[in-house]
Parts: sequence; C-alpha cells; structure tokens
Amino acid sequence: METLFDQKACLKIARNMQKKALCSYSHFAVGAAVQTQDHQIVGGFNIESASYGLTICAERVAIFSAISQGYTKFNHIVLVTDTGSFPCGACRQILYEFCPDANISIATQDEVLQTASVKSLMPYAFCQSDLNKKKET
Ligand code: THU
Repeated sequence: METLFDQKACLKIARNMQKKALCSYSHFAVGAAVQTQDHQIVGGFNIESASYGLTICAERVAIFSAISQGYTKFNHIVLVTDTGSFPCGACRQILYEFCPDANISIATQDEVLQTASVKSLMPYAFCQSDLNKKKET
C-alpha cells in the first residue's frame, strides 16, 4: 500500500497549499496534503482567526476536507513548513484517530527531511477503544 505513495504529487500539492496559507497573525505558513488509500490527494493550509484560538492547522484542514468528501482511509500525509516542523499535539491526535496506518513526510519547499509513522508521533494515545473500557458505575 505504502509503495503506491505518490510523493511527487503530494509534495507539489502541499507546497502549493503552503503558498496559500491564511496566516496573517503568525506569518507561519503551513501546507499539507493527504493521500487517500484510493490515491486521491486532498490539500489544506492553516487558516487563522482574529480570535487566534479558532485558528485551524493545515493538517486538520486537509484531513477534515478529505473526510467531508467521503474519504475514510489514508496512507500518507505530507507537511510543508519553512522550518521542517512536525505536527502540533492537536494534529497528532487527529492524525492518530483518522490516519492511524499512515506515514507522514516532513518537508520544506526545497527538500523532504524525514518520514515517520503517524503512530510513532503519538505513543500512549487516547482513542476510541478507551471509551469502550469505561467501567459501569
Ligand atoms: N500550524 C499548523 O498549521 N500545523 C501545525 O501542526 C502547527 C501549527 C499553524 C497554526 C498557526 O496558524 C501557525 O501554524 C502558528 O502556530
């Protein structure tokens, strides 16, 4: 499955997304692209709010957009920043829940720095199965 990851196409979309980021408060532009298991690629960029707290990260925009288009299974996500940064904690949680079997590539406009599994970013994650463990009171 992973061998079918189209890195070139995902990078192109994620890099293009970074250029469109709405980040007038932080000036920290982020682009993301998620590849679905049936090889569609959906992009996203960070969208900032004047309230600051309502800002949404690029990864979550990409994943939620893909989910809203009917995709449920993902095999790779590409993240593009100027700094080669990894996802924030909130995005790691969403990635773990919605793309548990995916890998993530960390990139800039010029290079791909690293690839890791989504699971490796979120050890001891809280997930749906925890809700089923709830004891009767
Ligand atoms: N940001 C992302 O888009 N993804 C992350 O994983 C980390 C942070 C955005 C949110 C905000 O618009 C800006 O980067 C600075 O935090």
